[in-house]
Amino acid sequence: MNTSSMLHINDISKWFGGLQALSNVSISVTASTVHGIIGPNGAGKTTLFNVITGMISPDQGSVLLKGKLLPRQKPHKLVSMGIARTFQNIRLFKNMTVLENVMIGQHVHTPTPVFSIILNTEFARIWEKKTREEALIALAFVGLEAKAAEIVKNLSYGQQRLIEFARAIAAKPKLILLDEPAAGMNPTEKANLLQFVSTLRENGYTIILIEHDMKLVMNICDTISVLDHGKKIAEGNPEDIRIHPEVIRAYLGKREP
Ligand SMILES: Nc1ncnc2c1ncn2[C@@H]1O[C@H](COP(=O)(O)OP(=O)(O)O)[C@@H](O)[C@H]1O
Ligand SMILES: [Mg+2]
Repeated sequence: MNTSSMLHINDISKWFGGLQALSNVSISVTASTVHGIIGPNGAGKTTLFNVITGMISPDQGSVLLKGKLLPRQKPHKLVSMGIARTFQNIRLFKNMTVLENVMIGQHVHTPTPVFSIILNTEFARIWEKKTREEALIALAFVGLEAKAAEIVKNLSYGQQRLIEFARAIAAKPKLILLDEPAAGMNPTEKANLLQFVSTLRENGYTIILIEHDMKLVMNICDTISVLDHGKKIAEGNPEDIRIHPEVIRAYLGKREP
């Protein structure tokens, strides 16, 4: 593990009954880079995110954030430690407004005890104002400020993905995990997403990106790790991964009838 390692995934294995979803996976993610995780469906990509964020416990291995062991099975703690994620299947409150959904992403930074919010104290009002302002900044970043008051279900699928993205940013993380953020996006939305992720990297964020859109992955990632059947089969820069025989075999193999 080098000193610039933001996240170190160390020898992770995970079984679901008789199926080994992850097999001795080790990945080191360098700070202020975009690290891609690719692989055919069922390769174990989302499971790896679930292990990192403490949503599931691995059978073996550990995850370190800046050299510090991450707690297992405490997803609520992860946000306060500086990790935010988006989900492959959008998880938003569809009947609430765009702004409310993004404000929820910041609840972890609430300094006030719950009762003072209920009592609607001055302190709570100040906090709510700050949260609202920061949520609007996150929405402006993804170009959705004008939609802040709209109900989420009335927005397009691509826009809903951007709301999830804004919610993750609003939590002010060091590390952002994006699980197939471009799925269902049109080409313009994808181009915008690429720009947003680049800007985050320039601002020092570290991003781990699971993505099937190869053009996007190859354009934006500094390093790519390839999973297949729960194993890491290759790792390197986009140029190397593109021509890596194991990677080509893994992808071509899946296309066979
Ligand atoms: N909670 C679970 N229970 C049982 N099997 C699971 C569970 N989550 C994932 N799996 C299985 O683990 C494998 C890896 O899944 P996943 O991590 O979702 O793959 P990917 O995100 O790469 O498509 C798949 O075979 C999937 O069916
Ligand atoms: Mg997945």
